[in-house]
Amino acid sequence: MKQLVFATANANKVAEVKMKLGDGYDFLSLTDIGCTEEIPETTGTLEGNALQKARYVKDKYGYDCFAEDSGLEIDALSNRPGVDTAHYSGSRDANANMAKVLNELKGEVQRNARFRAVIALIQGENEALFEGRVDGWIAKEMAGEGGFGYDPIFIPEDHKLTFAQLPQEIKKGISHRSRAVAKLVDHLGGKKLNL
Ligand code: IMP
Repeated sequence: MKQLVFATANANKVAEVKMKLGDGYDFLSLTDIGCTEEIPETTGTLEGNALQKARYVKDKYGYDCFAEDSGLEIDALSNRPGVDTAHYSGSRDANANMAKVLNELKGEVQRNARFRAVIALIQGENEALFEGRVDGWIAKEMAGEGGFGYDPIFIPEDHKLTFAQLPQEIKKGISHRSRAVAKLVDHLGGKKLNL
């Protein structure tokens, strides 16, 4: 069976992809391959960071692998926070990060934004990128208890409630991450059928 590493330390993400990928792959996490160090993310773009992480694992550990990077892009802020989404306020505190965004958008009527996720896959010599996005806008204030990160201030298009207010099943169905993962799984599934 082909081995494939998901370059993340997040057990929830591993479980989600494992479920969708089925039994065709021997699916490993960073913990499984003994990679405990922090992998650099220094390129300045989501695409670059995803590739950087996947190449790091391929070069150092020799496994075929994929890595993901995601972030929030706000039109009125020239696509910030972007690659700085996780620590926009200088810390990883979600409330501080959202407060900074709301403050920067004070009085701004153009509040269009999107979450974007990029997955970089390396199999042998081949590299491929898969993008998922969900468009929407930034609410005037935080609302809702569900989800994580910036969910309380992001309203996806075709909805009136934030990701944190919507049932998590709805979020999962339309999220940037699930859309990127669906493209990856399609790609890997196609490969499996061709073996
Ligand atoms: P990462 O790619 O998982 O490191 O995500 C980067 C940052 O983007 C996270 O720390 C969150 O702040 C934010 N983020 C990514 N996906 C979501 C989401 O689905 N909802 C809310 N925030 C998210």
